[in-house]
Amino acid sequence: MANVALSEVSKSYGSLEVIEGLNLQIEDGSFTVFVGPSGCGKSTLLRMIAGLEPITKGTLQIDGKTMNQADPIERGVAMVFQNYALYPHMTVEQNIGFSLRMAGLTKDEIASRVAVAAKTLQIEPLLKRKPGQLSGGQRQRVAIGRAIVRDPEVFLFDEPLSNLDAELRVSMRVEIAKLHNQLGSTMIYVTHDQTEAMTLADKIVVMRAGKIEQAGTPEELYDNPDNLFVAGFIGSPRMNFLRGTLGGGQVKLESGGALPATGTEDKVLVGVRPEHFVEAGQGAADIAVTVDVVENLGGTRFVYGTLSSGESVVIEARERLGLKAGDTISFGIRPERAMFFSTSGTRLRNI
Ligand SMILES: Nc1ncnc2c1ncn2[C@@H]1O[C@H](COP(=O)(O)OP(=O)(O)OP(=O)(O)O)[C@@H](O)[C@H]1O
Ligand SMILES: [Mg+2]
Repeated sequence: MANVALSEVSKSYGSLEVIEGLNLQIEDGSFTVFVGPSGCGKSTLLRMIAGLEPITKGTLQIDGKTMNQADPIERGVAMVFQNYALYPHMTVEQNIGFSLRMAGLTKDEIASRVAVAAKTLQIEPLLKRKPGQLSGGQRQRVAIGRAIVRDPEVFLFDEPLSNLDAELRVSMRVEIAKLHNQLGSTMIYVTHDQTEAMTLADKIVVMRAGKIEQAGTPEELYDNPDNLFVAGFIGSPRMNFLRGTLGGGQVKLESGGALPATGTEDKVLVGVRPEHFVEAGQGAADIAVTVDVVENLGGTRFVYGTLSSGESVVIEARERLGLKAGDTISFGIRPERAMFFSTSGTRLRNI
């Protein structure tokens, strides 16, 4: 186990700066998830921690030791890639033991470490097969097995589940959570999947264009985002942003209704999560919604609709309202859960 500290870390390719003066503390034994739009620098950051990519500026420390110049092996990290990168001509056993053979361990040591990894990942019956004879989920386990045998201080995962179908993703996600509990190692994980981020992370790091927008527990980011970008990025379906005007002790929504608020007259955006709408009359600012589509998930349902302002909304309706496309219905907003943002995206906390 080890902590990882990034201090003013930057990465440039020629004149293109893709990571800019990034600071981050990753606690010993924690599970940290990087999320952010495509191209924001998640893989680059992971590869710099792994030692696969030089750090242009700043300092990387693992367990208190500066590692900028250290070889990947010396860093005590192991990386699991999205595309598995298994050797097709080797058996599962040989694939998992490969790095140990390279490191010169004895046959007995290799066999025992491979056996432990195979048991942990429940792939013992597959050891004699080649990757071509495995399912996607089994291949992914082998790729994780290759990391486990190295007994790393820090595991780095770059979208390890994104090639798997939905059902397998869910079961592998649970497997990874169990693995983290069992090994207690520091894990850093990149994903595009909201649910993976929310369920696996002790800490989520939201990145945009090479910078950290906000880092915190899943609940902190969900309940208390620092800005419009994080508010819109965390949560699925995403938060609704309704245009309004602040003045005279309220925010008047363009779509009708008003929420109590103080502050000087200004255009604002009111953020409301799908689950923070209520029956008309039960909250503040009733708004009329014309239903476009109802997505019924069994236990709950999402109403996709349009407001009189032309804005689109997604509303979670726990009740079976019997709605269909074209219907118009009013919903209220829970005023204590609404968040306010400036049109430039800053969170307005004092209104
Ligand atoms: N070798 C390279 N030379 C120049 N630019 C690069 C190189 N590798 C990556 N980049 C650029 O660096 C930026 C960050 O890339 P990176 O792969 O880290 O993004 P990412 O957040 O992992 O995206 P994705 O979610 O699509 O995997 C991108 O703009 C990319 O085009
Ligand atoms: Mg990437």
